[in-house]
Amino acid sequence: MKRTNTGIETELEYNLKFFTQFIFHPTKTGAILPSNEKLCELMTDMADLGNVSTVVELGSGTGVITEKILKKKSPDTKFFAMEINPTFVEATLRRCPDATVYQSSAENARFYLEVNGESGCDRIVSSLPWSTFNSETQELILNSVYETLNPGGKFLTYAYSLGLLFPSAWRLRRLLRSKFDKVVKSSIVWSNIPPAFIYICEKAPAK
Ligand SMILES: C[S@@+](CC[C@H](N)C(=O)[O-])C[C@H]1O[C@@H](n2cnc3c(N)ncnc32)[C@H](O)[C@@H]1O
Repeated sequence: MKRTNTGIETELEYNLKFFTQFIFHPTKTGAILPSNEKLCELMTDMADLGNVSTVVELGSGTGVITEKILKKKSPDTKFFAMEINPTFVEATLRRCPDATVYQSSAENARFYLEVNGESGCDRIVSSLPWSTFNSETQELILNSVYETLNPGGKFLTYAYSLGLLFPSAWRLRRLLRSKFDKVVKSSIVWSNIPPAFIYICEKAPAK
C-alpha cells in the first residue's frame, strides 16, 4: 500500500490511529503515542546497522522506527518487521511500502527468519511493551530473542523511565542481565512521551 500524502497531516493521522489502538488495546499497544524522532534516531544509531546481514524489528506500530532502519541499513541487509496488530501492520506498510511486515507475535521470529533463508540475525530492534507482559510472556519472548540472535549480535529495546515504578519493569531488567553477556543503558530521552531509555544487550561472539 502506498503512502498517499506527506507532512504534518499524515503524522497526525498516524498518531490518531496509534492513540485509537491504545484505547482499544491498551496493554498490547503499551503507549499513547508513537516514539518521537529523537528516540527513533537514538535507537537506530545505537543499533549500529551499517555492517550487518540480518535485522529484525519487533512491534513496528506505525513504522516510525521501521522507516529509520530502512534508511540506515545497507541495501544488502535483509530486514523484516513483526507486528501483532493488523491495523499497525497496515500503517507500517503505508509508511514504508518497501518493508516486509509479518502479522505475528515476536516469539515467532525464528520461523520467519527461516522463511527468509536465515538461521539467525545480527540485530533485533524491539519496542515491545515489556512492562505489560506477564513473566511467562517476558521469558518466552526473551528466550526466543536470545536464541534467534547470532553470536556477537545485539538486542535493543526501549523502556519507559516511569515503568521502573512497576515490578514487571524490574523483572525485565533482571532477565536481560541474566541472559545477555553485556547490557548497557542509554541516556534518557526526556522529550519522548513518556520519557524513555534504551537497553543495548549483547550476545557474546563465538569462541
Ligand atoms: C509501544 S508500541 C511501539 C510502536 C513503534 N515501534 C514505536 O516505537 O512507536 C508497541 C508495539 O508492539 C506491538 N506488540 C505488542 N505485543 C506484540 C507481540 N507479542 N509481538 C509483536 N508485536 C507486538 C504493539 O501492537 C505495538 O505496535
